[in-house]
Amino acid sequence: MLKIIFFFTIVMNSSCNKNDKRIQINSPSENIKVVVENNQEITYLVEFNKQIVIRKSLLGMLFKDGNTLFKDPVITNITEENINDIWELPWGEVKKIQNNYREKTITISDSESGMIAELIFRAYNDGIAFRYNVKSNGSENDKIIISDELTQFNLTNNAQLWWTPAYGDNRYEELYQKSAMSEMDTSHTPLTIKYPDGIHLSIHEADLVDYSSMQLFYSNDNNLNCDLAEWNNGDKVRVSLPFQTPWRTIKIANSAKELITSYLTLNCNQPSKIKDVSWIKPSKYIGIWWGMIIGKWTWGEGPKHGATTKRGLEYVDFASEHGFDEVLIEGWQAGFKGLFPEDSVTVSFTNRTPDFDLEKVQRYAQNKNISLQAYQETSSGTKNYLSQIDSAFSLLNRIGIKNVKIGQVGARLDQKEYHYGQYGVSYYRKVLEKALEYKIGVNFHEPIKDTGERRTFPNMLTREGARGMEYNAWSGGNPPNHTTILPFTRLLNAPMDFTPGIFDLLFENIDADVKIEFPVTFTVVDSGNGYNDLIFISEESIWQKKIMNVDTLLLKEENIRVWEITQSCQPGEWEWGVIADHTALKSYDIWLPQLLGDGSNLKFKVEPSGKITGKTTMIIPKNKLDLNDVYFSKTKKELNKQRVSSTLAKQLALYVVIYSPLQMASDFIENYKEIPAFNFIKDVPVDWDSTVVLNGEVGEYVTIARKEKNSEDWYIGSITNEQNRSLELNLSFLNKGTYRATIYLDKESSDWEKNPLEYSIENKIFTQSDTHLIKLANGGGQAIKLEFIAQ
Ligand code: NOJ
Repeated sequence: MLKIIFFFTIVMNSSCNKNDKRIQINSPSENIKVVVENNQEITYLVEFNKQIVIRKSLLGMLFKDGNTLFKDPVITNITEENINDIWELPWGEVKKIQNNYREKTITISDSESGMIAELIFRAYNDGIAFRYNVKSNGSENDKIIISDELTQFNLTNNAQLWWTPAYGDNRYEELYQKSAMSEMDTSHTPLTIKYPDGIHLSIHEADLVDYSSMQLFYSNDNNLNCDLAEWNNGDKVRVSLPFQTPWRTIKIANSAKELITSYLTLNCNQPSKIKDVSWIKPSKYIGIWWGMIIGKWTWGEGPKHGATTKRGLEYVDFASEHGFDEVLIEGWQAGFKGLFPEDSVTVSFTNRTPDFDLEKVQRYAQNKNISLQAYQETSSGTKNYLSQIDSAFSLLNRIGIKNVKIGQVGARLDQKEYHYGQYGVSYYRKVLEKALEYKIGVNFHEPIKDTGERRTFPNMLTREGARGMEYNAWSGGNPPNHTTILPFTRLLNAPMDFTPGIFDLLFENIDADVKIEFPVTFTVVDSGNGYNDLIFISEESIWQKKIMNVDTLLLKEENIRVWEITQSCQPGEWEWGVIADHTALKSYDIWLPQLLGDGSNLKFKVEPSGKITGKTTMIIPKNKLDLNDVYFSKTKKELNKQRVSSTLAKQLALYVVIYSPLQMASDFIENYKEIPAFNFIKDVPVDWDSTVVLNGEVGEYVTIARKEKNSEDWYIGSITNEQNRSLELNLSFLNKGTYRATIYLDKESSDWEKNPLEYSIENKIFTQSDTHLIKLANGGGQAIKLEFIAQ
């Protein structure tokens, strides 16, 4: 039940002098000050402890009809409101959040255009927020198209920041780059900034509804500017008057670790829409999932199909034996082959593949007091999904499935719109509203970024929206520092379904369990064009990239290169293709089937008898070098050996460091059997009373302690990047009394690269007056369970 514990509001109305040029908003403890000025244009600046952290920055908007905010602005009214209350989260990383701010609403008329807009500024003790509330444009026509928002966030110097590039095909799933602001490309938010004196900012937005997402780009003089993702015709936002923008938010802290416990984004969202939250179920789950990601099983039907009834029952047994709440099933939908975006129009959200009996497995699970978690992969076909959403959610209601993971794989929604443009923002909101109507908890993959919706929609449980565990199964992987950047960027108050818990870190145990396979040799002949570093991809295991072996022949003074790879293939009809580089032309990741013809892959067939037919050879004729219109990237991506770049103890620590109300143990169940470290995953909760950040620097290390809800027990997770390090923890945050600590730690010899699997378990007794020295290996971590044993 959500209840307001303490509530204090003062509203003051002051009509003011048209000549007012400077309006100041101070935070409750006066550490933060916002100054809004009217000097023919409207600007704001922000001070933190008497030091400017955001220089004079422009506010305004351009409209498609030629109107501008603010052309000839006059301030006509100011009202003030002070709020101090505490609200409760139904689930979360903390139980209660204080919402304490001072707000001023400044009404501005544009004497030339007749536009009337309010600027609402809030000063909190941990940052500021502002939004535009545009009320009238002085004309009859209330439909209006925003062609640009001019909002700036001007920094005081060329500060360092951690950013991910916007507008790539991988949506938010990019590695963070650390650079000076002047080196930044257009970036997604939240954007984390570090000034040389250690002050950290996080610029983001909150309450993003029916508007395009804000990205940020750099321009001269250390200016950061708002960029709105556009519709495919170039409109930025289509609105009807009156309309409100999302809150533009800036968290401000003296150190990186304080950013993590600022709940400003959540505070800038509306209170919960619902009173009864008893049906919302945080959960710890396992699932039929990793097998498809790693290429051992397939999403679609066939001999390697992952989601079979038999495996479903087996996973339910394991879940029940080890205390999990749910089993995720992906690949049960008829018409889903794991081909993105081809599946986007064929996939059904109610019909199942013939080898998966959804009702039977769910009934079996319910009898053991657990449930399935359904996967609904839309492949970015939003029209197809929305046309089936009622029947899809009704089915879940009928059989008692509470939570659903909804995927949007694809570079654009319906191959047209950005996931984070206004179309996407509204699509995700529609799905969330529908889910609320059907009382279903949501886990979005390929989501819209988190802007704190869970305060209003407590069924918005978790989401992806950054590179999760799955990237380790694919080329490149996540380097060890990735998880030490996330807590200070993507994860700021925003749960993530990262899916930690891979124990088979080197992928030594992924032999296919279907043994009928036949060797097929694939050959690519380059008749002298100079391609190099060929990588083979086949539909049999679409997510795995394999380096081909090369032989060079000298034929009539031509360098003929012959590339070969032999693969074990299941009976079936499959497609394959090859990615190549051309170093001399500085062209990389060229998709050769596209270069050679219509872009379709080559097809081959393996009969159950072992007979191979179809094309297993590709010949590139000489001078096939026209790279116009061919997809390739300009940068060379190193193909690392696939593995997880972490020690095993670090995998455990991630359960505390990365908050998610749905938390997965993502490995194959056989990799957990008889492994003592698995006990930590079994014990660690998914719902917390409080969170304390003990230390941390962006991209280096972080240690987080969380107290279990309705219990006196604490859990600690500590992780490092590729550097080993020792951290002394002061345990004064514990309550009075004695705690039995079970510590899962890296050994002296552990090392993410050379010796990732070694860890040990130690037991100690602690009280709040103790300190504990944590030793983390390169790429390592430590996980601690602190069980309260006596007063
Ligand atoms: C990417 C998602 O993150 C993953 O969970 C899913 O298995 C694949 N897409 C396919 O739907």
